[in-house]
Amino acid sequence: MSEIKTVGVVGCGTMGAGIAIVCARAGFKTRVFDLRQDALDRAQEQTRVFLERSVKKGKLPPDAPGRILEGWQGTTALSDLADCDLVIEAVFEDLDAKHRIFEQLHAVCAPHAIFASNTSTISITEIAGGSGRSDRFVGMHFCLPAQLMKLVEMSPGLNTSEATFGRAWAFCEALGQKPVRTQDSPGFILNYFLIPFNNDAIRLVEQGVASAEDIDTAVKAALGYPMGPLELLDLIGLDTQRLLCEAMHGLTHEERAACPPLVRRMIAAGRLGKKSGRGFHVYADNALHGA
Ligand SMILES: NC(=O)c1ccc[n+]([C@@H]2O[C@H](COP(=O)([O-])OP(=O)(O)OC[C@H]3O[C@@H](n4cnc5c(N)ncnc54)[C@H](O)[C@@H]3O)[C@@H](O)[C@H]2O)c1
Repeated sequence: MSEIKTVGVVGCGTMGAGIAIVCARAGFKTRVFDLRQDALDRAQEQTRVFLERSVKKGKLPPDAPGRILEGWQGTTALSDLADCDLVIEAVFEDLDAKHRIFEQLHAVCAPHAIFASNTSTISITEIAGGSGRSDRFVGMHFCLPAQLMKLVEMSPGLNTSEATFGRAWAFCEALGQKPVRTQDSPGFILNYFLIPFNNDAIRLVEQGVASAEDIDTAVKAALGYPMGPLELLDLIGLDTQRLLCEAMHGLTHEERAACPPLVRRMIAAGRLGKKSGRGFHVYADNALHGA
């Protein structure tokens, strides 16, 4: 089996931008693909700012940003991912969209390349079914914000070979991340309870029980969470939350996973969270979390 040296990240929105930092920071050549040049430009600038602030905080040596940014290559041409040994997909939560991407990647990438999806809720086996290489396919769910969080939920699909899973697990450790193994099950570990839990917080706001500030304060102070659920939702993105709820509710029929109407109204009003400057809270800039 060839060693993993070059990694592709497909989609550089909220998650892809952070995952690309994790890969480039660990010394992997990182090719970042997005359909939109403005998304690539934004992610590159966010990465530069994040790395410079990491140096100022003493978390990285002064020469690190230059080296890391050299390994970070943005592209709008999928063919630039041809030499990747592993590709991590992080486009929006939609099975058909993911199938279309993996179909194209299968035509472009070498047979040894492993495909991974960062999906939060869609079945790994179902996504892998449209990839042309379901034996070399794995679920690799990074946590938000990926550039700060260590955990990665690793899930094999029904056809994933143990060799593939082992290579992906070793890659995850080489990134400096902490992998845990889960079955291919809706929401894996974290989103199984986080999606209903976050929706409960939204419903408290919806019903006027308490303000977003007070709910976040209560959860942080009493449960010891570093972030309140509404702050976290602003980081996740309300548009992404809607897709996660729809996928999760469609699979589990769990009432608490259903998308609260307030989320749809906030999306219609352009209040997507940090990425649009306003969600449950208001934001002055779009820097990556921790920058
Ligand atoms: N947001 C979160 O908190 C979070 C956490 C963990 C996992 N995830 C999962 O990560 C994935 C991405 O979510 P996100 O929140 O980063 O989404 P996002 O909407 O912030 O970003 C998606 C990016 O994909 C790009 N894109 C869309 N179609 C594309 C295509 N065909 N080819 C290349 N790029 C394309 C868009 O331009 C955008 O930059 C989803 O599967 C989601 O479930 C999200």
